[in-house]
Amino acid sequence: MNMNFGIMRLIRGNPVLEVLLGATCGGLLVLLVRWSQGAWMPSGEPTYSSRIEDTLTPTLEKFTWQAQFPLPLDRESSQVFPFLLNHPDKCKVSGGVPFLVMLVMTQPQDQVLRDAIRYTWGNETTVPGVIIRRLFLMGLSSDFSSHHLLEEDEKHKDLLQVGFLDTYHNQTLKTLMGLEWVAQYCPMTHYVLKVNGNVFLNPHLLVQQILKPEQQPWPDFITGCIYRNRIPIRRQSHPQYMPLDMFSHARYPPYCCSPGYVLSRPLALKVLSIARRMPAVHLEDVFVGLCLHQLGVEPTPSPPNTFLMFGRLYNRCDFRGFALVHPFKHQKLLQVWPDFQKGNITCPLKGRVGMETSQLDSN
Ligand SMILES: *[C@@H]1O[C@H](CO)[C@@H](O)[C@H](O)[C@H]1NC(C)=O
Ligand SMILES: *[C@@H]1O[C@H](CO)[C@@H](O)[C@H](O)[C@H]1NC(C)=O
Ligand SMILES: *[C@@H]1O[C@H](CO)[C@@H](O)[C@H](O)[C@H]1NC(C)=O
Repeated sequence: MNMNFGIMRLIRGNPVLEVLLGATCGGLLVLLVRWSQGAWMPSGEPTYSSRIEDTLTPTLEKFTWQAQFPLPLDRESSQVFPFLLNHPDKCKVSGGVPFLVMLVMTQPQDQVLRDAIRYTWGNETTVPGVIIRRLFLMGLSSDFSSHHLLEEDEKHKDLLQVGFLDTYHNQTLKTLMGLEWVAQYCPMTHYVLKVNGNVFLNPHLLVQQILKPEQQPWPDFITGCIYRNRIPIRRQSHPQYMPLDMFSHARYPPYCCSPGYVLSRPLALKVLSIARRMPAVHLEDVFVGLCLHQLGVEPTPSPPNTFLMFGRLYNRCDFRGFALVHPFKHQKLLQVWPDFQKGNITCPLKGRVGMETSQLDSN
């Protein structure tokens, strides 16, 4: 009796446990035991090797993932979903470790889009003195021949393909496999950018004014456009429909908008690690927000008006002050990029002066 009462109290105080109530009771007990032993909360900053060890201990995550979203969050299942195209040496750079890894989300058939990105914001050498690595992450597409993909990869050596269907509902899986790749093959990078293909990105502003290579990276850093107090959409026809049994609360914790957010490497590894113990949520931005919440990490606000989510008509000097504009067509991107690059000479240093960096500098 006492124990049951204790469990109910635990559950009521913990949103994730409440969600889990819908899951297997036996599993819930195991989870509660682990949780009460402190295994639930991360202690300090997990190093890469401690994370591997952690993964090898008996796992309990399987039951938390609902049948319709079988996600690979342990070592075994990352073999179930192997990297079919991979570049394990991409981050072994002579002359230093990468400052930023760009994980660009595209689908196999998006070859034209990828070319546009390679030629524009995805160019690894646009920010002088800073090592950037760009990779395109994708799953499988039933109606696209892998032959073309192999040719493309032969030429550019920048495709990561994971063996699961690349669908809207597998987005969380895709993001996590990106973080998994960082953990396995690029654990030294300072920052990781998760970015969708349909955006305009200004790597210069992102690196120099938001991430600031001259400063120590902060362990628990994630920024982008931040949604706060969002209400889950319960209308079934909506693409972002959230079933009650997946997430029952009235509001989401703060999360970074899906088109583009950047996190520090230590936080990326923490998210990956805690994700294995979280119930599956197919909206990847919400899911990462739930992981942050569980980790007790708040997204860091970016300077106002740097991550635009509702598009913007191109203008050279305005765009110097943005880090990301979503959505942005790739045809337009190719068209404006040469002009955009002239902006560093012809535009006033607007954005630098007016920028509220206090929040970012307060460390
Ligand atoms: C990337 O940028 C560098 C320097 O700005 C330039 O020399 C190179 O041609 C660019 N690469 C592509 C693929 O556009
Ligand atoms: C996610 O990928 C798996 C593996 O390919 C597939 O079986 C499943 O149908 C996909 N899930 C959704 C919701 O598309
Ligand atoms: C402006 O950008 C070009 C091309 O990226 C670069 O070569 C040049 O040094 C930059 N100039 C200034 C003043 O930053």
